[in-house]
Amino acid sequence: MTSERTQVAIIGAGPAGLLLGQLMHRHGIEAVILEARSREYVEARIRAGVLEQGTMEVLREAGVGERMEREGLVHRGIYLCFDHVLHHIPMTELTHGRSVMIYGQTEVVKDLIEARQKAGAPLLFECEDVTVEGLEHDEPVVRYRHGGAEHELRCDIVAGCDGFHGVCRPTIPEDALTVWERGYPYAWLGILADVPPSTDELIYAYSDRGFALHSMRSLTRSRLYVQVDPDEEIAEWPDDRIWSELHQRLASDGWELAEGPILEKGITPMRSFVAAPMRYRSLMLAGDAAHIVPPTGAKGLNLAVADVTVLADALIGHLTAGSDTGLDEYSDRCLTRVWRAQHFSWFMTTMLHLDHSDDTYGRQLQRSQLRYVTTSTAAATSLAENYVGLTLEQTAPAGATP
Ligand code: APR
Ligand code: PHB
Repeated sequence: MTSERTQVAIIGAGPAGLLLGQLMHRHGIEAVILEARSREYVEARIRAGVLEQGTMEVLREAGVGERMEREGLVHRGIYLCFDHVLHHIPMTELTHGRSVMIYGQTEVVKDLIEARQKAGAPLLFECEDVTVEGLEHDEPVVRYRHGGAEHELRCDIVAGCDGFHGVCRPTIPEDALTVWERGYPYAWLGILADVPPSTDELIYAYSDRGFALHSMRSLTRSRLYVQVDPDEEIAEWPDDRIWSELHQRLASDGWELAEGPILEKGITPMRSFVAAPMRYRSLMLAGDAAHIVPPTGAKGLNLAVADVTVLADALIGHLTAGSDTGLDEYSDRCLTRVWRAQHFSWFMTTMLHLDHSDDTYGRQLQRSQLRYVTTSTAAATSLAENYVGLTLEQTAPAGATP
């Protein structure tokens, strides 16, 4: 068995873990990133693709924004579609110039992995049986198997960036965590298609057949989703059936959806989840390890980035200046923003999806809300400022250290 020491042991190489690693490296703090999957798997995993203005800025400042600037698509609005009419929400106009960037999470992850490898900083893929021990004695030890050998990594802080199904959150004693959860009676079937998007900006569609979303990854690749039942089998959805649903649900007057070869398809369940506090002794949770949102508001990746930005400052304070203020305030600082995003994601989800168990009263409420956000500047502004992302200052808890 080998035994090593580092300052921060980062579990998970998703956007949260990789960005934290990058921020630590830039501040001269040692970190080791341990990832369960292979590099190929992590780089092929298709996830969301909308970066808030604040996320773009963080990636740029972290020195990993170059390809994003070149290849990403800046969007200044979204469309809401219902009753066969497209309604434009001019987000930039409503938010004093803020916008979002269309750039896949997969690409963000590739850029971060490349930066880490260029820096020669440790990032280990295919780590097995990762465990976190010693938290009770404030001497955290991470044990894992890699390349057939047992390893132990002693550290000052463990960053639990291992996603919703990771090992870090379950390490925390049950009575030290409070959990809030909501399930939804639907899921998303998503496809990646080799066809230029049929729209300049994303279309979120409400229809009698269920929700649909027309998104994109580039000027030549479209990403589209349809609402399906949570127990739906992908085998029941041949390509023709998917396109047929998309045509019907996205239909609007004077607009055509172009089809193309489907490169990838899959079904994603929808869930809202928050575990608090996001710290237990020297274990800090960040990203999906602590909270999950349904994808409708495009907030998952952005929340992970916001957590890690706050965590990086806290770790720099702790490890370079011996100040614990940042670590002490970390959870509260993140959770104010997390709950805003929870509400927004729930709001977008319940406004746009068809709940088959719901009465017609519920549908009238949805239509009323859709009419409101597409006709009232006040309502549209609220949607827009949440979509482009509130600033860290706007979501700072009352009384937090500036
Ligand atoms: N040991 C090491 N790594 C692990 C373990 C483990 N026991 N369990 C999970 N992991 C890895 C996963 O393989 C994954 O690469 O942790 C990583 C977690 O990454 P993400 O799931 O991408 O989570 P996060 O970095 O918080 O990013 C949140 O990702 O899931 C989307 O919608 C979500 O956009 C959001 C973003
Ligand atoms: C995506 O492109 O994958 C995407 C876009 C917007 C969302 C969710 C997912 O709200």
